[in-house]
Amino acid sequence: MDGVDIKTVLLCGLAAAISIVWLRSREKSSIPAIIGSKGPISSYSGAIHFLRNATEVVQQGYYKHPDGVFRVPTLFHWEYVVNGPQRIAEVAAAPEEILSFKEGVSDTLQTDYTMGPEITKNHYHGLAVRGSLTRNLARCFPEVRNEIVHAFDHVLALESKEWKLLHVLPNIMQIVARTSNRLFVGLPLCREQEYLDLNIDYTATIFIRGQIIGLLPGFLKPILGPFISTRKSSVRHALKFLGPIITDRLEKEKEYGRDWPERPNDLISWLLDLAVGEERTVPDLTLRILAINMAAIHTTSQTLTAALYNLTTYPEHLIPMCEEVERVVAAEGWSKASLANMHKIDSFLRETQRLNIISPVAMGRKVATKEGFTFSDGTTIPYGAMVYVPGIPTHCDNANYENAEVFDGFRFSRLREERLGHNADGPDGFFSRHMVTTGLDHVVFGHGRHACPGRFFAATELKAMLAHILINYDVKAETEGFRPPDDHFGVLRMPNLRGKIWIRKRAV
Ligand code: HEM
Repeated sequence: MDGVDIKTVLLCGLAAAISIVWLRSREKSSIPAIIGSKGPISSYSGAIHFLRNATEVVQQGYYKHPDGVFRVPTLFHWEYVVNGPQRIAEVAAAPEEILSFKEGVSDTLQTDYTMGPEITKNHYHGLAVRGSLTRNLARCFPEVRNEIVHAFDHVLALESKEWKLLHVLPNIMQIVARTSNRLFVGLPLCREQEYLDLNIDYTATIFIRGQIIGLLPGFLKPILGPFISTRKSSVRHALKFLGPIITDRLEKEKEYGRDWPERPNDLISWLLDLAVGEERTVPDLTLRILAINMAAIHTTSQTLTAALYNLTTYPEHLIPMCEEVERVVAAEGWSKASLANMHKIDSFLRETQRLNIISPVAMGRKVATKEGFTFSDGTTIPYGAMVYVPGIPTHCDNANYENAEVFDGFRFSRLREERLGHNADGPDGFFSRHMVTTGLDHVVFGHGRHACPGRFFAATELKAMLAHILINYDVKAETEGFRPPDDHFGVLRMPNLRGKIWIRKRAV
């Protein structure tokens, strides 16, 4: 593996094996285990089984304990999955110092080593996304739309009106990376290929290196972690592009204060509005931009890829959505406000997210209080353990959705019409099943305190992209009626990485 030598891997493997057996022998719990409950060796083989069959195991636990809690073995620990809306609500409402989102992320990605301890300690970049970035979406929409048009033209490179077989995810990833970075760092950097590839690869690097470091016992992490991580080289690489821009911004702020003429309205400025002390350094700001790209690019690309697989597998959705886009754009043009009137598009994307959520578990939190976390029914999860809510099983439960297993792209727009009757084209009133609305039965963006702060941007970008595809391109499945099956990696589930669809420019 690139940059990790064989001795390091063997050493990690040996250390991991010793600590697995040691840690396993110490963990006892009265909470039922779905697999691997008969001792350290059984739980170890259970952990391997879980890695390969996470979706089935969590689904099994969900059916066996519909209103209870169960645990599943991972290589080092038991992790806990809590069922039922009341428990999901309690996880969503728990304060950070009791059920910690940050420590959960830090454990999963080993952020101290892979990204830097400053990321573990402080997520202020999330505030920039939740605040200024979201508030500026309407104002910045023309640039985002301009980038979408440019990116589709450039990346798809469809010269003639002939059908082309498109490898979906890598192309969509390029388009999403460009479009997102138009808002994050602006032109011309958002079109610089090396910068885009760096941001796309960063996520995979952090996940893979984080998993390897996670296999080490605590005492070895500070020793081997820095050799396994590419933390310094990734930031150095990003500095090549972001360094001069951020240095210039910092100098301008020193000279003119916060409100200098022509100050760009982008993520760099929004971060600078919040950054204090050591956060106002070029490397720290660079790291924040990498972190936001990491949160934004893969999640959004996977959603659009899944939506395209659904569109081509269930083509009956094509014409009604296309008509909706044409009608709304003819009446109102392209704006964030006009996207809000594309109810079928919103519904189609929400339904895609409902059935294509990327993991059987969601909302991972680490128990941060020494006495453990006790739910209102008295169930206690021990200190230091990871707690999750069921993701796929919640979304596929017939108690939550009629014919829950079936893809029904207009499920939510129909519900909207039923709720609002003849006012369905008017203001939303009490309708609360928009793409961005989280709930106890819809956890794709999480729910509660840490619900994804970027979901308003993600929804704007995804709706604008899907609408753009619908009125500019014809699409069809590579093989009629066949949806490329999802790929699975441990608890991650993704739209098929190698999947293709046919695409051509629409005749005008
Ligand atoms: C379809 C696209 C997206 C999906 C499915 C998604 C999903 C999520 C989820 C599940 C979480 C954790 C919530 C929890 O555990 O309660 C999260 C957190 C986060 N997301 Fe997103 N996300 C998406 C797009 C974005 C975008 C475009 C941005 C940035 C512009 C973004 C920025 C963030 C940040 C900064 C956090 C961490 C929040 C914190 O520190 O409290 N996400 N996202």
